[in-house]
Amino acid sequence: GFIILDFGSQFTQLIARRLRELGFYSEIHSYKYSAEEIRKKNPYGIILSGGPNSVYEEGSPQRDIKELRNISPLLGVCYGMQLLSHQLGGKVTKAQHREYGLNYVTWTSVLKDVPKKQKVWMSHGDVVETAPEGFEIIANSDGNHPAAMRSENVLAVQFHPEVAHTEHGLDLLRYFAQEMCHAPADWDAPHIKDHLMEEVRKQVGETDHVLVGLSGGVDSTVVATLLTKALGAERVHCVFVDNGLLRKNEFENVLESYKGLGLNVKGVDASREFLSELKGKTDPEEKRKTIGRVFIEVFDKSYDKKLPIKWLAQGTLYPDVIESVSSIGGSVTIKSHHNVGGLPEKMHLGLVEPVRELFKDEVRALGAQLGLPHAMLWRHPFPGPGLAIRVLGEVTEERLRILKDCDDVYISELRRHGLYEKIWQAFCVLLPVKTVGVQGDSRTYDHVLALRAVTSSDGMTADWYPFEFQFLRDVSNLITNKVKGVNRVVYDVTSKPPGTIEWE
Ligand code: XMP
Repeated sequence: GFIILDFGSQFTQLIARRLRELGFYSEIHSYKYSAEEIRKKNPYGIILSGGPNSVYEEGSPQRDIKELRNISPLLGVCYGMQLLSHQLGGKVTKAQHREYGLNYVTWTSVLKDVPKKQKVWMSHGDVVETAPEGFEIIANSDGNHPAAMRSENVLAVQFHPEVAHTEHGLDLLRYFAQEMCHAPADWDAPHIKDHLMEEVRKQVGETDHVLVGLSGGVDSTVVATLLTKALGAERVHCVFVDNGLLRKNEFENVLESYKGLGLNVKGVDASREFLSELKGKTDPEEKRKTIGRVFIEVFDKSYDKKLPIKWLAQGTLYPDVIESVSSIGGSVTIKSHHNVGGLPEKMHLGLVEPVRELFKDEVRALGAQLGLPHAMLWRHPFPGPGLAIRVLGEVTEERLRILKDCDDVYISELRRHGLYEKIWQAFCVLLPVKTVGVQGDSRTYDHVLALRAVTSSDGMTADWYPFEFQFLRDVSNLITNKVKGVNRVVYDVTSKPPGTIEWE
């Protein structure tokens, strides 16, 4: 595949995604990833990402380019282009005019499939003033800076081909992969499936058994199905815990569909334990921690200790992995997502993470390849702590009942109007606020319910969904008429940031 060296750009992940969309497997590593490791992977090509630094700054991330050049063809993007120039004897300086956002470049030597003049997305303050020896400048920006250069086995661009606003960005990446690296475009769902089944068999071996925690969501379902196909149902033990915090009838419905998929699954009803442990707790982090702890206790008791279980499988995805290897900067914990944190150590199990190299869209494609039904693959994400973080304040049985009923009305309406799959995530939040209302001829004093619906591509950022007023009017009427305990409905019009998707 391809190796992407990350110099800290916010778009590094996009480079990997775009290459994979084109059918080229690619993986991201820190810019410090050793040449020896890279050589072992025998990559078709290496891509140097953008980054926030200036190459001539003290302490900026550096890398021996000559060494890399001896391994495979190189593509430098933005900072990557500047670094190439800097290291190979060209000259990089501060630009007189920074170029941010949309810009035009004109090619002097046209690459396959790319027109002479095109729109690109730029974000840089430095420019290559003089290209290194052996390089030809092949495009210029409107501000008359070099926008692309190449030598025999190195291509470098000042703009971001991975960003959707750059026209023909995919063509440029394809040109690099196919014409310069001669890579086959063979990364597709059937290939991914075969590759992962083989990997799983290698990792787990001939006799070990594997434990899988199912959540009803896409990732764990795909993982369980993949493992079951690879190892056989006798060796793959799935556990689906009812924490009492699932949507209305969710436990029964999902358990049923799991059995239909041929999974060896055990449903464990632990709703009493969760609810009693949550009693009196109102702080969001305390609620999350409690649920995490009880989950581990329940899960630990859920399977037969005499079975030769040596592995715990998890639906970790590539974005989670990248967050933890990110070479520059790091993210702060905004909320603790602890669904399974600490579990493998405590249980002395090895970790199997078969989809840790995949993005969400690849997991869905893999799921389809494994024969999972469409509706299962396109379910909205659902948080580990479940409805507990949507009943603000203390979680009681009565409040959960109200929330489940409201949620049921809302989601059914979304489906009825064909809106469900246009939305990343939609849910209700029961507020610990009561207001006065009038229903029939009497005064009421009941809860406020908030509706939330957001669009997003990865949950990292999100925008609220612009429903038609009539839809909101109908849902509000249905809820206040049908669900006892709610007399007022509001719609959340906050994006992320500054809000988060969930309210707790
Ligand atoms: P926030 O609220 O942080 O959520 O914007 C981003 C995405 O993560 C989901 N979420 C969780 N998922 N365990 C999970 O598996 C958790 O503890 C958790 N908390 C939030 C949230 O639903 C959204 O999709």
